[in-house]
Amino acid sequence: QPVYLSDYQPPAYRVTHTQLTFELDPAATRVKARLLLERHPERETGLPLELDGEHLSLKSIALDGRPLEAADYELTEQGLRIPQVPERFVLDTEVEISPRDNTALQGLYQSSGIYCTQCEAEGFRRITFYPDRPDVMATFSTTLIGDATAEPVLLSNGNPVEKGTLDDGRHFVTWEDPHPKPSYLFALVAGDLKKVADRFTTMHGREVSLEIWVEEENLDKTDHAMASLKRAMKWDEETYGREYDLDLFMIVAVNDFNMGAMENKGLNIFNSAAVLTHPKTATDVAYQRVEGIVAHEYFHNWSGNRVTCRDWFQLSLKEGFTVFRDQCYSADTNSAPVKRIQDVSFFRTAQFAEDAGPTAHPIRPDHYIEITNFYTLTIYEKGSEVVRMLRNLLGWEAFRRGSDLYFDRFDGQAVTIEDFVDCMAEASGEDLTRFMRWYSQAGTPEIDAHGEYDYVTSEYRLTLRQRTPATPGQQDKQPLHIPVRLGLVGTKSGRDLNMTLGGETLGRDAVIHLREDEQEFLFTDVAESPIPSLLRHFSAPVKLHFPYSREDLAFLLQHDSDGFNRWDAGQRLALLALDDLIAAHRNGVEKVMDSRVTDAFRTLLTSRIDDKAVLAEMLTLPSEAYIAEQQPLVDVDAIHAAREFVRQSLALALRDEFLAVFEANQSDAPYAPEPEQIAQRSLKNVALSYLMAIEDEQGLAFAQAQFDADHNMTDVRHALTLLVHSSRDDLASPALKAFGETWAHDPLVMDQWFSLQVTRPQEDAVERVKFLMQHPAFSLKNPNKVRALIGAFASQNRVNFHRLDGEGYKLLADVVIELNRLNPEIAARLITPLTRWQRFDEQRQALMKAELERIKAEPLSPNVYEVVAKALA
Ligand code: ARG
Ligand code: ZN
Repeated sequence: QPVYLSDYQPPAYRVTHTQLTFELDPAATRVKARLLLERHPERETGLPLELDGEHLSLKSIALDGRPLEAADYELTEQGLRIPQVPERFVLDTEVEISPRDNTALQGLYQSSGIYCTQCEAEGFRRITFYPDRPDVMATFSTTLIGDATAEPVLLSNGNPVEKGTLDDGRHFVTWEDPHPKPSYLFALVAGDLKKVADRFTTMHGREVSLEIWVEEENLDKTDHAMASLKRAMKWDEETYGREYDLDLFMIVAVNDFNMGAMENKGLNIFNSAAVLTHPKTATDVAYQRVEGIVAHEYFHNWSGNRVTCRDWFQLSLKEGFTVFRDQCYSADTNSAPVKRIQDVSFFRTAQFAEDAGPTAHPIRPDHYIEITNFYTLTIYEKGSEVVRMLRNLLGWEAFRRGSDLYFDRFDGQAVTIEDFVDCMAEASGEDLTRFMRWYSQAGTPEIDAHGEYDYVTSEYRLTLRQRTPATPGQQDKQPLHIPVRLGLVGTKSGRDLNMTLGGETLGRDAVIHLREDEQEFLFTDVAESPIPSLLRHFSAPVKLHFPYSREDLAFLLQHDSDGFNRWDAGQRLALLALDDLIAAHRNGVEKVMDSRVTDAFRTLLTSRIDDKAVLAEMLTLPSEAYIAEQQPLVDVDAIHAAREFVRQSLALALRDEFLAVFEANQSDAPYAPEPEQIAQRSLKNVALSYLMAIEDEQGLAFAQAQFDADHNMTDVRHALTLLVHSSRDDLASPALKAFGETWAHDPLVMDQWFSLQVTRPQEDAVERVKFLMQHPAFSLKNPNKVRALIGAFASQNRVNFHRLDGEGYKLLADVVIELNRLNPEIAARLITPLTRWQRFDEQRQALMKAELERIKAEPLSPNVYEVVAKALA
């Protein structure tokens, strides 16, 4: 029973104020709600009141103080309906819920004994009867009553205004949030937590208390999140002119959380993995993730909370914009080119795959069955790419004017993607009509480009043709407005040439606009024969095909002035070599390494190094998943074999160079998550990976020593992974055992311990996953554990997940079936690798489809049903 965007209507009644009282109890929490309601001015009189409510047991209900008779209202699985209500009225309800039994982790639940909530998108309806939709915005006042010993800390949105003790020894705190907000931004937290406090003074002098609440043993793991928060607050003031608007900002870390974190007003709730760090327990990647997510949730205070979404079809309005904002923030605080390379390489692997699969959808879908299935890479990451294109089309200044206009005009409102784009158009004078298609058209556009240089006339003719492949439910595609940033690199000079187009001088680096199916760009006065460097900085989320020769790519890898495209040229060069090797593997022909790749790597390793982090990325081969994306039909074994062959060939040919890089970048400086240190560690560890690819004696010794030195988690985990993925069980087993024992008490480290084992390429991986699922530290009820063990196995251990006896698929399906009962949101996400069955050979297709059919035969949650039905359609 899908919901359609075209059916949108304002609510019949809106809530102006919401007063909640919680009497906390693990199995029987009482929730009293008093709602001040009034007819929506745009809706007719006499409509029934319809409130959402799920898994609630109604204890009492009264309208304007008068208790309702059973005949006055109707209760269904989805909610409550009162056929006759006045124009303005007060509704009192009391319900009972069981946080302890809530394994879906939506609504109010307990995590390691801590009460917490997750209301986005539709979790509030599991707390009380309410018009649970983002266009209903009310002020909230919330009283929490709990046991003084078990729940010494009682938190909600806004400011605490009253606290005290009750006669029975329980205590209470009342919170008031003066900013009207939709129910999805409501939050409460209660339990035995400890805080780390700090302060921030805003640009206009507001003194804000910052608090991070954690379990006592994690008090030493909040420094980085706090520093990141303060940097983010400052950055949003300086970059977007956005200031914080309450006297208190809180972050709470909980162990059981479906996603990364949630931007509840004044009370962000985080997956502990997205907030806790310590040099001994968190890797550089984790530090950077924490910084990004802390910033992301903070930025939502404006892009999401002050201005929110009219309905969930507009989800990308807040998520795309906020991801764009957090990406820019991280770029500004770390290495900008590396941030872009990492974001794009993730995007092209995962989002392109989503766009090419059965669940492909536009950034603004036009229907859905279950909204939690739409917290996707398309909504988030492609949404961010589209905002980035706007920034690049308009230029920063006009974009910033558009952003100011948007926040100003719509402050306190629930709006649409058109409202946002209209502000951008108005502030810049650009016509963005065609650009809007990016929001409604699913699929990854492909650009076929080719160029010709005329030596006689000194002209360069560049032809760009665009097409977007059909996606489920969207057969016909229209041309998009695609900004192509480019340079023409002279083959003699190795420099960007001056570009003149239609008599207009563009300079050496410029953006041309592809709007039609096909367009020709004639550059005049091109001094020498060029190689085009196209889509610089990944200026649009598209696939670019240009018939580059390997010599062209080696040339661009050396000379392109755009760091991003230099990296990309290296990736393309490696992909061409990998293509040959994949073919050779399939045909049973001897594999021969392309010396152009080896030469390019040698040059990289021996030339002067500016940015070690970029170099580390350049020395990293495309992942198996990305290689698979480029193949018409995925042959997992051939891809794995080809990539291993390249790694080993490079290691053999360049052993001394890798050794030198490894040794030159060792350091025993105290750990800091600083860009220079991170860069040095990545480079060193990439070098070590190559040495371990050939299990070089020296490499093994370095890995073992790095593990034993126990200097920081980045190095320890990398060394341990290399040992565990090697053939040397004599070294791997003791290290793995020691690590597991040392960290048995720390769930986040145990997640890493699980992941690195189930991603090993050895043949026993499926069996190991099953074995580890019995480990006392594992639990199906904890999403982080599910992701660390089953998620990591299915998405990162491709050769074993796709085992020809189907055991990998069967394992995943078994877990999905069980999780479907416990946590439908996580179950639905976990199926993803099975939904891509069309990409594989017939034998695997049959096996994968059989598992999907087996899941489909179960009584399913809407979440899992929607995904499986699409996958089999
Ligand atoms: N708004 C949150 C964020 O991206 C994500 C919440 C997702 N909730 C969910 N039930 N999937 O910052
Ligand atoms: Zn978000």
